[in-house]
Amino acid sequence: MATNSLVCVNDYEEQALSLLDKRVRDYYSCGADDGQTLSDNVADFRRLRLRPRMMVDVSNINMKTTLLGQEVAFPVCVAPTGIQKLAHPDGELATARASASLGTCMCLSTGSTVSLGELAENLPELLLWFQLYVCKDRDLTRQLVKQAERAGCKALVVTVDRPEQGTRRTSITNKFSLPLHLSFKNLDSLKSPLQSSQNNKYAVLHTMFDNTLTWEDIQWLTTITNLPVIAKGVLTGVDAVKALESGCKAIYVSNHGGRQLDGVCSTISVLSEVVKAVNGRAEVYLDGGVRTGTDVLKALALGARAVFVGRPPLYGLAVAGEEGARNVLTILRNELKLAMQLSGVTDVQSVSRDLVTYRASL
Ligand SMILES: Cc1cc2nc3c(=O)[nH]c(=O)nc-3n(C[C@H](O)[C@H](O)[C@H](O)COP(=O)(O)O)c2cc1C
Repeated sequence: MATNSLVCVNDYEEQALSLLDKRVRDYYSCGADDGQTLSDNVADFRRLRLRPRMMVDVSNINMKTTLLGQEVAFPVCVAPTGIQKLAHPDGELATARASASLGTCMCLSTGSTVSLGELAENLPELLLWFQLYVCKDRDLTRQLVKQAERAGCKALVVTVDRPEQGTRRTSITNKFSLPLHLSFKNLDSLKSPLQSSQNNKYAVLHTMFDNTLTWEDIQWLTTITNLPVIAKGVLTGVDAVKALESGCKAIYVSNHGGRQLDGVCSTISVLSEVVKAVNGRAEVYLDGGVRTGTDVLKALALGARAVFVGRPPLYGLAVAGEEGARNVLTILRNELKLAMQLSGVTDVQSVSRDLVTYRASL
């Protein structure tokens, strides 16, 4: 569809929600339980206010930065979200093409409908990370890690906030399942319960993940790979320190887009605590509720090295495939640049904490 009237992420969201089939729309947009955290993620960015500096030469803006030593053109990356072929037949390949063409990083989900190998073959230039759900079957886990290594991934993002699946009410009422024409591509060639099951592969996949995980298992992971391990789903300073002590090389603040424990704090509201605990020893990333360039700038000011977006690229994908995903990322890049210029900030790597404050009560 024509996309020139869609000028912000919310336009893409609205358009995508009107186009998608109810089951897919609900799967992408839902949060856990009452959706309190889902809405707080977005609302809490709006409680922060900017304190711009005037009379700064903003003719040259540097948006480049590095993530664990790898360059990205701007600090907005694609968070891991499963089953992207529900949004568009090209699925993760289209999102990856959009990310690669803009020079940013994409994190592929364990539950993807395009394989690591397919992305690596088509897009050798893409900065690709792999999101790992540790499986009860450690041999299977090891094979997933090896696939990520072979595909040239530059990091393993281990999700630590999913000992069990949060309750997504619409998934229950819609009897959400993986359509028969799709499969979890990274697991297709591996021996797992998925192969012997004709039933709902979405439900089967979730039974394969390990609910006994502790930080010691993260230590184990660091012994089976040379890839840097990143803990995704950290919400407290204490856990950030645990993650570092277990060998993680970066901390990814996330509440899974409000899809796990409802009632946890928004990610932007805990960022400062995590950054303080990490105390410069590692990079800190954030996702959850980022919808505008000013949201990105606020997260950078509070100490994030980069942010990730989950639903926004899915909505772009649903509206116009690769072009839609690229447009969404381009909107965020352009909004961030303008927000920096209007704030007197010239480099994404040196955004001052002073730039943000909580809304004053009058
Ligand atoms: C449809 C959907 C599927 C997701 N699948 C995964 C996943 O497979 N693994 C994971 O670690 N996080 C997953 N997430 C969470 C995202 O990685 C990310 O934390 C979240 O979407 C960020 O919030 P945002 O959507 O407000 O940007 C998923 C989120 C959505 C919306």
